[in-house]
Amino acid sequence: EAFVVTPSASRLSAQERASALVDPGFGKIFTDHMVTLRWSEGSGWHDARVRAREPFMMDPASAVLHYGQEIFEGLKAYRRPDGSITLFRPEENARRFNRSAMRMAMPELPETLFIESVEWLLKLDGDWVPEGEGSLYLRPFMFANEVFLGVRPASHYVFCVIASPAGPYFQQGAKALTLWVSDRYSRAASGGTGAAKCGGNYAGSLIAQMQAAARGCDQVVFLDAAERRWVEELGGMNIFFVMEDGEIITPPLGTILPGITRDSIIELARSEGYAVREARYSIEDWEADAVSGRLRESFVCGTAATVVAVGEVRRLSGSFEIASKAPGPVTQSLQTRLLDIQRGRAPDPLHWCRTL
Ligand code: PLP
Ligand code: COI
Repeated sequence: EAFVVTPSASRLSAQERASALVDPGFGKIFTDHMVTLRWSEGSGWHDARVRAREPFMMDPASAVLHYGQEIFEGLKAYRRPDGSITLFRPEENARRFNRSAMRMAMPELPETLFIESVEWLLKLDGDWVPEGEGSLYLRPFMFANEVFLGVRPASHYVFCVIASPAGPYFQQGAKALTLWVSDRYSRAASGGTGAAKCGGNYAGSLIAQMQAAARGCDQVVFLDAAERRWVEELGGMNIFFVMEDGEIITPPLGTILPGITRDSIIELARSEGYAVREARYSIEDWEADAVSGRLRESFVCGTAATVVAVGEVRRLSGSFEIASKAPGPVTQSLQTRLLDIQRGRAPDPLHWCRTL
């Protein structure tokens, strides 16, 4: 598939862009271009274009607007000390995208096309990758745009990549998060879509997130749907527990999103000699272990969030604090290890970085 590339003039001067990159926040400003491909029954993927970012024209009967056939990915491009740009494990995002596509009965996109699309956007919008601690968040996504109201997999899809300069996901000062345990809502059930990165999972989490915010919490931590006991993950991050004896526990895959940061943290921790166990951990144990001191640290991780400590957990029946409510040594060292690899400040023994 040959990409038709139509560069456009930037909406911003170099100086305006530089000031936009100083404190970009998360997901608020966007680069100049986008990549689009189309898929239809019979002709497969075609019409690959790299062009000015612009609104889509959509028929009101487009399938995605009614039944939510949509999936997405999130990955970051980092500026290395030598000025080059690097992607972190983009092949994993390409693979996960296809697993999400399969779950949502959508067409798979060849991994090479996924990566080529992301790289094309970086070629045109590379100037938008911030220096320092910022990064450029890349958002590949796919949606059903067949004009049809019958309930079945659509026969037309659009794949698109947009990019957004990003600073910290949490507002400054969030050294340790306060989490809300939803007594009412779950994120995913066995046989459901929890392991897929589909828009509907996030839509379903918003009411719980609203309640968390109303109680002064930063994020929701979801429990399993069947027993309402086992800690699963947050709305957009995976979770880890660091025990007194150095063992690290993280919930097993199944109904949670298989985070690429999660996988990288597991590998890094093991390479540093920690015993990492993918095992169920209950909210009761979490509280008891935090109170007794057997649990030393908790942290959450994801592409947007990076690695962030958990300081306090609240639920209807009360709350508990984790150690000194500050990032502990294991959290800090894994966070530094990961960030240094991503940003090209440390060796990359597992070849995770794909530098352009
Ligand atoms: N869990 C959920 C529900 C997410 O949306 C994300 C973000 O992508 C993650 C976990 C972390 O995944 P990753 O580390 O691949 O960004
Ligand atoms: C990501 O980390 O890429 C996500 O998709 C999480 C989302 C809450 C921004």
